Amino acid sequence: MPSHPPTKVAILGAGRGGTALLDLLHQICTIEIVGITDQNPNAPGLQRARELNIPVYERMADLIRNHGVNLVMDVTGDPAMERVLHTQVLTGTDILSGPASRILWELVQHQSTLQTELLHAEKLAGIGSFAAGIAHDINNPLQLILGLAENITEERDFDTIHLQAQDIIEAVKRTTAICRDLTSYSRRASSLQDGEIAMNTKLDEALKIARYAVVLQDIEIRKSYQPDVTVKGNPDELLHVFVNLITNAVQAMESRGTLTLETAIVDGVTQVRVSDTGCGIPHELLGQIFEPFFTTKPPGKGTGLGLYNIKNVIHHMHGTIGVASEVGRGSTFTITFPRAADASEGSPRP
Ligand SMILES: Nc1ncnc2c1ncn2[C@@H]1O[C@H](COP(=O)(O)OP(=O)(O)OP(=O)(O)O)[C@@H](O)[C@H]1O
Ligand SMILES: [Mg+2]
Repeated sequence: MPSHPPTKVAILGAGRGGTALLDLLHQICTIEIVGITDQNPNAPGLQRARELNIPVYERMADLIRNHGVNLVMDVTGDPAMERVLHTQVLTGTDILSGPASRILWELVQHQSTLQTELLHAEKLAGIGSFAAGIAHDINNPLQLILGLAENITEERDFDTIHLQAQDIIEAVKRTTAICRDLTSYSRRASSLQDGEIAMNTKLDEALKIARYAVVLQDIEIRKSYQPDVTVKGNPDELLHVFVNLITNAVQAMESRGTLTLETAIVDGVTQVRVSDTGCGIPHELLGQIFEPFFTTKPPGKGTGLGLYNIKNVIHHMHGTIGVASEVGRGSTFTITFPRAADASEGSPRP
């Protein structure tokens, strides 16, 4: 933890730049965002600020002259603002404006692009480990189709031929379903719009896909689903989160144990839990597992990006993820989404 007080920052402008800055700075514990303001009451960053419980100011002067602001960040894009600010801010307050704030905005955008690319790269790396599972699942129906087709070439009875042709159709449908699941999993998340996602269906879908990456044969699967649990977000990204959590859980159990999937709404807060009875995580590593590239797998086996990407996706959906673990007994990853009302009402205007 930092030994000095946090830097107090005021953000001017709540368009795309202000929104991206909010998302980035609010994750940094040495920075306190004291407030944001915009001339346009419908600017997207103001809504985002309310979701994050960051005060929204109607008057710029109320924000920049109070609260012991150390730094005013101007992302209004208004060329006249820099001069206005120099007359208004108190001595001792720094101003980031003009070209400096433009460069900052470009860096923030670059960072967001990198995060998206990292998510996709990790997904593609993961698909490599699916290859054996996919080959197996496609090979089974193919062998069946081959056997049936050989029979048909020698069969004279029309009714039997008809039945065997039906079986071929079913086998082809099974392989098509495998290809469909994997295509939807590997595509870029941005290809689908955000919407209401049914958690239980998404967990089941993830379980189907995780089957290609890990052996579930000797794993007991327990489900404890509350009906109608939904959360707003990108369905592909959430699918990726669940596949990663399930894969990690099964890998920790070395193919034997109990995997528990739970959904619940507790006091209006939506929770999703993925638990395993695997090796557990040593206490001293708990702070590192969400770091990029942290892995305890042998070189070439894991990217160490799974949990890092999960954390980013969940934060983007305004949720949080936590872990409880005991070595030798197992781990529980809990994702929590705030109540819908918290996300839309936010804090009152000062
Ligand atoms: N359910 C779990 N039980 C025990 N340890 C876990 C569990 N989930 C994650 N870990 C630990 O956290 C580390 C990081 O996980 P993460 O998913 O980010 O990367 P990885 O699984 O090592 O690599 P990849 O996801 O690319 O296969 C793992 O190497 C493991 O040590
Ligand atoms: Mg992983």
